[in-house]
Amino acid sequence: MKIARVTLSDRASAGIYADLSGPEIERILAPAFEPAPAFLSCLIPDDRATIADTLRTLCDTEHCDLIVTTGGTGPAPRDVTPEATRDVLERELPGFGEAMRAVSFAKVPTAILSRATAGTRGRTLIINLPGNPRAIGECLPPLLPAIRECLKHLN
Ligand code: MTE
Repeated sequence: MKIARVTLSDRASAGIYADLSGPEIERILAPAFEPAPAFLSCLIPDDRATIADTLRTLCDTEHCDLIVTTGGTGPAPRDVTPEATRDVLERELPGFGEAMRAVSFAKVPTAILSRATAGTRGRTLIINLPGNPRAIGECLPPLLPAIRECLKHLN
């Protein structure tokens, strides 16, 4: 099992602040699979072509089973993660984004500002998460049963 965590942030990739979100994804996913998965990590700016190229490489060359991105899902002009993700997806799985927004909205009304999506390219499942580390703790655990089931269907 090979998992890539990809942080999309202009400021974190420029070293202006530390990336807390990528490590948070790994903290949640590492104990969730048996045997323990191998992790790749990427930290890149909010550039659509760079994001799409990175996702293609992680799918087609690295053969990751799962890619989880964090950041760039909001309404700001530099937020292009969902567009870059759709550039590489073969099939969209809109339920992941719908579930994250539904689960979080009751607690955090701003959760609906995330345009996060998900889908598959070949045998790789790609999921967008919002950038806030607290949002990862709220959004990712409820997705685990569907992630496990989807990976079974892809392999
Ligand atoms: N979801 C949860 N669970 N908790 C949050 O704090 N922040 C929201 C939303 N989803 C948030 C959340 C906000 S304020 C924004 S702008 C969007 O995620 C997009 O964040 P991103 O651009 O960092 O991906």
